[in-house]
Amino acid sequence: MKCTQHIKSIAPSFNPKIALVLGSGLGEFADSIEKIAEISYSDLEGFPASGVGGHAGNFILGKVGGTDVVAMQGRVHYYEDGQVDAMKVPIKCFKELGCEIVILTNAAGSLDYNAGPGSVMLIKDYVNFTGMSPLFKETGNERFVNMVNAYNKDLRRDVLNIADANDIHLSKGVYGWMCGPQFETPAEINVLKILGVNAAGMSTVPETILARHQGMKVMALSVITNYAAGMDDGELSHEQTIKYADKASQTFKTILTEFIKNLK
Ligand code: HPA
Repeated sequence: MKCTQHIKSIAPSFNPKIALVLGSGLGEFADSIEKIAEISYSDLEGFPASGVGGHAGNFILGKVGGTDVVAMQGRVHYYEDGQVDAMKVPIKCFKELGCEIVILTNAAGSLDYNAGPGSVMLIKDYVNFTGMSPLFKETGNERFVNMVNAYNKDLRRDVLNIADANDIHLSKGVYGWMCGPQFETPAEINVLKILGVNAAGMSTVPETILARHQGMKVMALSVITNYAAGMDDGELSHEQTIKYADKASQTFKTILTEFIKNLK
């Protein structure tokens, strides 16, 4: 793809094996990347810009603990344009750049009183409540992607070990993909609880499917920014999402930095 060629022409000897997608309020992690280059999505053909606050729209090439990484500071969501495969080009670009591991991050609402705002959840599985797939219109047998251990088991174990070693309380759970942009109703949250969901959010699942389709391993973290609808007296808002994502930023940074260093 043209976007891949453009990135390679800017840093020909750059060899990233790890790609990161930084979600709502988590773009600040980009400050801990030793930057080699920063490219606006508008200069990368096929990279959709997100119109959501807290999503900067930069593609970063850099190093974390000496390891080459690429990072997307912000992502587009299904609810922005109703285009379920909006992240197809960026995820394919990761693959073309040589990435083997994709780290996905998001902000989510917790369905579990033991995992409150400001905490981090390791995603162990997901439930797709939208009925949509970014692989619609794909052809060939590769489209029938196996989603068992979509969030790679070994990588999950690594993250849990890192949390332990750093005295971080990390919850693990199932992420429920809701299309948004409206938050859920309390009735929907009650249904999600019965169905085994631990956190609700509006992203990450399409990227997970696309990355697995490309044969890359996936690890995903949710930063819990609120209790889900109806679980407390709080008003749900995007401002609250940004505020609590910021609160969790240190924990998040430690886990991500150590995880990437550990992959060497
Ligand atoms: N629901 C869905 N998406 C979210 C939430 C939520 O409660 N909080 C942050 N993103």
